[in-house]
Amino acid sequence: MTLKEYLAARIEVVDQALQRWVPAESVEPETIHRAMRYSLFAGGKRIRPILCMAASDVVHPDAPGIEDAAATLEMIHTYSLIHDDLPALDNDDLRRGMATNHKVFGEAMAILAGDSLLTLAFQVLSELSEIGAEQRSRLVLELASASGTVGGMIGGQVHDIEGERMTPTAELLEKIHRAKTGALLRASVRMGGIYAGASAAEMQALTAYGEHAGLAFQIVDDILDMEESSAALGKTAGKDLAQQKITFPAVYGLAESKRMAEEERQKAHAALERFGNHGTRLREIADLIVDRKS
Ligand code: IPE
Ligand code: IPE
Ligand code: MG
Ligand code: MG
Ligand code: MG
Repeated sequence: MTLKEYLAARIEVVDQALQRWVPAESVEPETIHRAMRYSLFAGGKRIRPILCMAASDVVHPDAPGIEDAAATLEMIHTYSLIHDDLPALDNDDLRRGMATNHKVFGEAMAILAGDSLLTLAFQVLSELSEIGAEQRSRLVLELASASGTVGGMIGGQVHDIEGERMTPTAELLEKIHRAKTGALLRASVRMGGIYAGASAAEMQALTAYGEHAGLAFQIVDDILDMEESSAALGKTAGKDLAQQKITFPAVYGLAESKRMAEEERQKAHAALERFGNHGTRLREIADLIVDRKS
């Protein structure tokens, strides 16, 4: 299977899981289910669930039910995007090539749609039936801490918003990026490992891979914001400069940022050494993260 076919097949499986777990638009109260589904099925790359499933496959190919655990990452991620776009945060009109959630459903419903995707993610984890209680609780802990305030996604968003009024420094940049994006990408890989029953040594290798791929992901997000068009990205380009965000290009310049993304790619690859040929997909996904244009 080519990488392209593999990604398409994985997206299909994740989307089916999301379809199963998210209440239908006809379920009352209809508005919130329409709002949740509007953003979830707007066409994201599904990088986090794909990472989760690929990491799981390295340890135990085709673990039954992995797509349900993987789908919870997309719920958290989509919630974070809906809230990131709100007027009080980045104030964006365009997301995944469509009007942002609050533009269509209003701010109150967008806040609630984010809240409900967050809540549903943990409901789904607690209902996973193919793994034992100990693994379920490890998955809950992993996703909760990666999404939380101490070194997690919310913590990173706080630094990102407060950083708008601060001088860009390498130290602040690292703190923001590791938390706001890196933590959930790291957790994506680790949740795959936990689900598949990885050993401590395997978890260590997957964690290192997740950290490097996660950092590369946000470096590239910052570069694309400067180099690509809104049409190519499906979200407003040039926002970071306009909002004086602390980004890799703001601190290091574009050329050095590209070199750093390359370095993270190499480190992500190196972390996979122990898996030999079984690490091929994860290696390809690290390449995709660095080479992508949207
Ligand atoms: C965008 O994430 C927001 C960041 C955390 C940088 P993605 O680039 O994964 O967005 P989608 O899911 O493909 O829309
Ligand atoms: C958003 O970072 C990260 C989260 C949603 C947690 P950005 O603000 O850089 O994401 P984009 O560029 O709007 O997708
Ligand atoms: Mg933001
Ligand atoms: Mg934003
Ligand atoms: Mg960005």
